[in-house]
Amino acid sequence: MLSDKLQSIVLAAGKSSRFKTGKTKLAEKICGRPMILYPAKLLESLGIQSTFVVGYQKEVLENLIAKSCSNRVNFIHQEEQLGTGHAVACTQHLWEKDHVLILNGDAPLVTAEIIKNLYKEHIQADAAISLVASHYTGTDHAYGRIIQDKDGIKIVEAKDFKEEVYDRKCCINAGIYIANTKFLKSCISKIHSKNAAQEFYLTSLVEIACKKNLNIVTSYAPYDKIRGINTFEELWAAEQIKRSKLIKYWMEHGVRFQVAQNIHLDIDIEIGAGSTIGGGAHILSGSQIGTNCNIRKFSTIDNSIIKDNVEVFPNSIIRDSHIGKNAKIGPFAHIHSQSKIEEGVVIGNFVEIKKSTIGKKSSAKHLTYLGNATVGSQVNIGAGTITCNYDGFSKHPTIIKNNAFIGSNNTLVAPITIEQNAFTAAGSTITKDVPQNSLGIGRVKQVNKEDYREKLLEKLKLRSLQVNTKLKQQEC
Ligand code: UD1
Ligand code: MG
Repeated sequence: MLSDKLQSIVLAAGKSSRFKTGKTKLAEKICGRPMILYPAKLLESLGIQSTFVVGYQKEVLENLIAKSCSNRVNFIHQEEQLGTGHAVACTQHLWEKDHVLILNGDAPLVTAEIIKNLYKEHIQADAAISLVASHYTGTDHAYGRIIQDKDGIKIVEAKDFKEEVYDRKCCINAGIYIANTKFLKSCISKIHSKNAAQEFYLTSLVEIACKKNLNIVTSYAPYDKIRGINTFEELWAAEQIKRSKLIKYWMEHGVRFQVAQNIHLDIDIEIGAGSTIGGGAHILSGSQIGTNCNIRKFSTIDNSIIKDNVEVFPNSIIRDSHIGKNAKIGPFAHIHSQSKIEEGVVIGNFVEIKKSTIGKKSSAKHLTYLGNATVGSQVNIGAGTITCNYDGFSKHPTIIKNNAFIGSNNTLVAPITIEQNAFTAAGSTITKDVPQNSLGIGRVKQVNKEDYREKLLEKLKLRSLQVNTKLKQQEC
């Protein structure tokens, strides 16, 4: 078992200065998952005990990891960011297993297969240190290059490049290593900082092992699986790769994407077979979409459950909510804050539902706001209805029971209950509970003034006569 002999260290203390945001890049999300959780979850899935070296914005990273990982992880604080070699040295009192796996925290595309291959080759060769290498054709100042010649093998860091490094077309160092613990203990203190960055480079261990004639393994992996993320451009490229894989996966499971290149799909989602996702749609982490659903263009489903056969019309937003089967939502609907829309409900255009439950087969089809409401089944909410759930201090509930009929343009002043089979008249401001089977009317009674037009014209004629007389008097 890999985990018996191997422990791991994830390097996550760096300042992320190439991101230029003043924040740690490792909290940036890739397909909805913070970058640091990619190595964290990978190690968890392999059952390898892990230590995270944190420093810059350590609280942010510690919280993210503690919240998302169920296995026990250690955190070691690197006070000053003196380089990757120094970061590893900070953990030496924890080295207890035979081998130590070291991962950069900024390589989210690394797979379990890469780690397993590296370990296998490392053990077979009885290596002091093994590292993952990859082909890379870029000539930019990124990645350490693996230089292998008659003098042996070493890694030259980007800041220390000379032109001939590019001429040699050598492989890059992926930042994934397994070191024999005995070797690591004896050599970690030999790393120095006499280089362009004046940092303790972990990569110096390769040259140190070579000079001692110890075995070194280079295990190869495709570049697209080991990309390191130092800039927003690199993050964007990695996210494209990850997202393409997710889209391909769901296509293979019977999901149709109408404009696949224009869909924002996160990790940690589910989509049932026979469902269609329209162009520009966002399906964000924590969402589960059932079978045969139609999520039309520019809609967002965020951390929500959508049951089977649901139709979400364009430009709707569903966040932290639950939609029952056969429901129809939108266009331009906004359902959020733990709302529950039950089976067969119709929520139409420009309707906002917040912290509310809407019972089976009820409908609110046009221009409505329902907040802190509990609506029963087969209720009709007329166009333009709003719940006045907030009095400036606290939120109050509105309860509308089964089969009630709320007329158009109603203002329901909470707390209030509309009982079963009750009606409210259009244009009402309802401030008192409406009993079962009754009609609540809350509006000023209409008055019709007869012959109004004639009386009005008469009045206007008289006024213009008076004005003309006044003008004539002034002229005289
Ligand atoms: C590093 C490697 C380079 C390799 C590349 C692969 C070194 C010296 N260079 O370069 O050979 O090709 O990764 O992507 O290792 N960190 C700390 N403490 C520090 C400095 C960094 O914990 O003092 C962490 C960072 O948060 C990051 C990781 O170490 O997660 C790698 O650091 P980074 O600055 O990204 O190294 P690269 O320049 O990418
Ligand atoms: Mg990096």
